Formats: sequence, C-alpha cells, structure tokens
Amino acid sequence: MAVDEHKDWKMDKKTVELEFARNSLREELEAINNYGARIAETENPELKRVLIHNMDEEKEHVAMLVEWIRKNDATQDKVFKEHD
Ligand SMILES: [Fe+2]
Repeated sequence: MAVDEHKDWKMDKKTVELEFARNSLREELEAINNYGARIAETENPELKRVLIHNMDEEKEHVAMLVEWIRKNDATQDKVFKEHD
C-alpha cells in the first residue's frame, strides 16, 4: 500500500492535505516506537544518547502535526476540546 494512496482521487485539496498530515503523524509515531525499541536494546551509551535525542525530536514533530490538524480540521479540534 503506497503512502498517500488517495492523492489522485477526486478529493478536494484540503482533504488531500489532511491525509498527508495524518499519514505523516502515523509515521512520526512509528518512528518514536522504533527509537524506543532500539534505545531499550542497545548497550552502547553514546548510541543510546543519540537515539533518545532523535526520539525526542520525533515527539516535537508529532506535536507540530497535531497542531496543524487541529487548525485545519474543525471536528478534530472540537473533539480534542470536548472529549470525555
Ligand atoms: Fe520526524
């Protein structure tokens, strides 16, 4: 399955952009999980420090994407504010 597989469908630009952002968010979350697994496995302290630094940067990327999605998807923003 290709990334952004729906981009050639008859979707408006905003819908395509939201799909790009959600796919990017998923990839950032997967990266955090991958870094976490490697941090747990490595016994090299210098490599562990680099991986932790990189993992923390991915968390910043998650925050940036969530903010963008909230700004561009009114329903998503609303449920962030109102969920139980
Ligand atoms: Fe990233």
